[in-house]
Amino acid sequence: MKKHLFLIAALVLAAACSQKAPDIEKQIDEILPQITLEEKIAMTHAQSKFSSPGVPRLGIPEIWCTDGPHGIRAEVLWDKWSQARWTNDSCTAYPALTCLAASWNPEMSRLYGESIAEEALYRKKTVLLGPGVNILRHPLGGRNFEYMGEDPFLSSTMVVPYVQGVQSKDVAVCVKHFALNNDEIHRHTVNVNVDDRTLYEIYLPAFKAAVTEGGAWSIMGAYNLYNNQHLCHNERILMDILKGEWGFDGVVISDWGGCHDTDQAVHNGLDLEYGTWTDGLFTGPSNVYNEYHLAQPYLKGIKSGKYGTDELDDKVRRLLRLQLRTNMAPGRGTGRFVCPDHSAAARKIAGEGIVLLKNDGDVLPVKNAKKILVVGENAFKMLTVGGGSSSLKVKYEISPLEAVRARFSDAEVVFERGYSSGAAQAQDGISAKFDLAENRTPEQMVADAVAAAKDADYVLVFGGLNKNKNQDSEGADRLEYGLPYGQDALVEALAEVASKLVFVNISGNPVAMPWVDKVPAIVQGWYLGSEAGYALADVLSGDVNPSGKLPFTFPYDMSEGPVTSEEQYPGISREGENIIDEYYTEGLLVGYRWYDTKKVKPMFAFGHGLSYTTFEYGEASIRGRKLSVKISNTGKVAGAEVVQLYIGDPECSVERPAKELKGFKKVFLQPGESKTVTFEIPDSALSFFDAEQHKWVVEPGEFIAYIGSGSDDIRTSVKFKK
Ligand code: BGC
Repeated sequence: MKKHLFLIAALVLAAACSQKAPDIEKQIDEILPQITLEEKIAMTHAQSKFSSPGVPRLGIPEIWCTDGPHGIRAEVLWDKWSQARWTNDSCTAYPALTCLAASWNPEMSRLYGESIAEEALYRKKTVLLGPGVNILRHPLGGRNFEYMGEDPFLSSTMVVPYVQGVQSKDVAVCVKHFALNNDEIHRHTVNVNVDDRTLYEIYLPAFKAAVTEGGAWSIMGAYNLYNNQHLCHNERILMDILKGEWGFDGVVISDWGGCHDTDQAVHNGLDLEYGTWTDGLFTGPSNVYNEYHLAQPYLKGIKSGKYGTDELDDKVRRLLRLQLRTNMAPGRGTGRFVCPDHSAAARKIAGEGIVLLKNDGDVLPVKNAKKILVVGENAFKMLTVGGGSSSLKVKYEISPLEAVRARFSDAEVVFERGYSSGAAQAQDGISAKFDLAENRTPEQMVADAVAAAKDADYVLVFGGLNKNKNQDSEGADRLEYGLPYGQDALVEALAEVASKLVFVNISGNPVAMPWVDKVPAIVQGWYLGSEAGYALADVLSGDVNPSGKLPFTFPYDMSEGPVTSEEQYPGISREGENIIDEYYTEGLLVGYRWYDTKKVKPMFAFGHGLSYTTFEYGEASIRGRKLSVKISNTGKVAGAEVVQLYIGDPECSVERPAKELKGFKKVFLQPGESKTVTFEIPDSALSFFDAEQHKWVVEPGEFIAYIGSGSDDIRTSVKFKK
């Protein structure tokens, strides 16, 4: 035994000293036989809310997980969801992933990944529970704000550098929630019925990219069911697809409370069990870790001969691989926490993701303002708090009101709340910075805002959703597409008196704007984290020229969209069973694929986003598969344009969406400058998934490449043949 201990110590030391990663597989072969059955069992399940044991005897460290995905979560108690009240765990909050996706800039993903991983490292975490890449299927989805929008190509392209950025710091990502977790309302009991082509073309690509291109070291099973099996131990998704087709060599971690069955957990690909019998947020029995499905029941099953040890050894190999890649990686750094670089990264990413939706009469940027009226609760409410497991305890959060006051210090800045969401909701014991108590009636708040607007040069409304239950929040979906808390009446009333009215919509979901034609300027402001106010003021003032593009469609009304029947959402209860079946009968026609194909004009289309400058597109030309197009900045200020490539396949043996995003590039241009943007179009951009043959197929014939500034703003197109 002593010899073994020495061997491990020597290996760990060698790993720490060596500049080059030692052969991880060889190390696993050497370590595995030294671990006892009981120690192996212990490794496969949690010992506390967010940690699982290593092998203390051999110096193999514990695994510590942290939410993710927008900042490092505050410590909670060992066995309770409540906050531990440490005083050293207030983090930097980064913009929500919807904002990151809206930057359409993979460099921002890399920056995000590296910065958040440094914070994780400093907080001594092994696994960051994120990023989330479930597709936005329905605008009411409570967690859409945590994901990367409605398009598989955009989310695939953006997730890969995030994964690589995090893991470059020897911290593992845990890509979530795999898979088909597209709404929250019945998240533990929904069984998704989806055809294979839709599964492979829409719902799997971002996960596949994270695994096969990004090299993700862990992935989180989703709460819901598919093929009547929970996704944390789902044979098809985890064994056939993830570990089979994609060759995933990392760890499958259950969502907190997502594991329900020992047999399935043993055989169907789960490697690490967390949070069993909790709801993942607030409730659960205490100290039951030994009774987890992969704890005593598994050990007893092995001892009685019910289970062999091959599956266990495979799980432990994966866990050791994770350890050697992270905690035991040679030269692993110590990270940094809440530093100027991280603040700058958060502000930069936010600035690139904010989307200028409308700007009639060039109302923005704000110029020559003597008096600015700021309206709206989201101008001062903390939005890093709430929303479920991504709720953060931040070192600081700059509110839009503070930032507008600081940026326009020459002007008189006055504030009117305009609407109220009610009392603040605390999360993990963290409550909002400002007192949200309000005694006025909604009518009075509107009247006060209107009175204050009369002599203001600009009226900046910060409204939208928030992180309260039934808004953008985990565990429940939104109840309506419209804006809550009487905001429509507020905006309508302000539009009567203010000509320079700007509505900044803070949300991670599309919302209705029945007054869209009456408000000259509209900005999509997302949840932007610690630097929120500064980033918004940067764009409103013109210090930053907006360059974000929508990662999802804003329809006028949900009834015009692809998901309108009860069987599609929220699903139909199965008689006599605690299961709700959801049918994804809209198939491939998710988001803009629906609006384009059905020729329904949305309020703001996927890929839409304006700038303070103008861009001119030349004619696209194609040689072989190399497409070129010249882009010029024809305005007066520097700016960035996201040049988008969509492919259409008008004649095909199967039905296809009118066009699909297959490439994009963000180009930065000085006034008067031009650049030629090129795209190499691979076969994969032309293919569809043939479910019968179970493979991707490219049919010969004509294709159309559409190049544009948004899915509804195609500037040039060119035909080519396969
Ligand atoms: C969520 C996960 C989260 C986990 C741990 C669950 O409620 O679904 O996304 O990572 O809790 O907090």
